[in-house]
Amino acid sequence: MRVAIIGAGNLGTAIAMNASKNAEVIAVRRRKDLFPETKSVEVVSEIEEAEKANVFIITLKPQVFRKNMELISKVARGKPVVSFSAGVRLEEMLRHIENPFRAMTNLGIEERGTVACYPPETSEHLSFLDADFIYCESERELDAMTSFLGSSPAIISKLFHAFIISALHQGISYNNAIKAGISAFHSAAYLYSKYGLDETIRRITTPGGTTAEGLRLVAGIEKGFMDSLIGASRRVDEL
Ligand SMILES: NC(=O)c1ccc[n+]([C@@H]2O[C@H](COP(=O)([O-])OP(=O)(O)OC[C@H]3O[C@@H](n4cnc5c(N)ncnc54)[C@H](OP(=O)(O)O)[C@@H]3O)[C@@H](O)[C@H]2O)c1
Repeated sequence: MRVAIIGAGNLGTAIAMNASKNAEVIAVRRRKDLFPETKSVEVVSEIEEAEKANVFIITLKPQVFRKNMELISKVARGKPVVSFSAGVRLEEMLRHIENPFRAMTNLGIEERGTVACYPPETSEHLSFLDADFIYCESERELDAMTSFLGSSPAIISKLFHAFIISALHQGISYNNAIKAGISAFHSAAYLYSKYGLDETIRRITTPGGTTAEGLRLVAGIEKGFMDSLIGASRRVDEL
């Protein structure tokens, strides 16, 4: 299996690192020297040099993808083209590309991650990835994943950072704060998905105790967090 990654920058490099565990990767970027040396990855500078690939992953910026769509179509010759470029719709791709698909992920894919795809059969062309798949029910849902899956790690990093600063303030060492933070964010997602919010709060909170005081004070940040994710999601229509 040979996988071409067209536009091997931030996201493309992360996908290449994951894909190289199970496939031969051809990574394309003009400044080849900026790509980190990685086993099973051949780095080339021209899109035409990727023609022997079986599947084409697009991680170019949207405008750069639009400019190169015709060339990519010629090079792919009917083989699947899976775009991770934000906001470039299937209808637009179909004007040039015979076999287009869409997906979204985030930089966590470098190790192991989650990939949202539309239409659902897109995942068949990404089976070389060490990943879980989210099957989107519409292209609109996939577009929203640009914010909720793609951008959200940067936004949530700000909350994680606030957690670390507060722990340092209360005398916890930096390394221990990081360990506690990883556990707390991971456990919150696990408990919420298993028990829901009310039951998670009921199990953790002692009446009149520390958690209750924390819950009272955290109420103010929820709206800002929602506005941030929704604002990021709306931007996709302008790309
Ligand atoms: N970054 C993320 O966390 C993330 C998450 C989800 C989705 N995305 C999506 O992924 C896409 C790329 O984002 P990014 O942050 O990875 O951007 P990026 O770091 O700028 O990567 C794009 C790469 O494309 C290369 N490139 C530009 N023109 C080219 C050409 N003609 N031929 C071959 N390569 C070319 C550039 O490298 P050279 O200048 O060396 O050619 C650049 O490194 C965007 O559509 C974004 O919406 C990104």
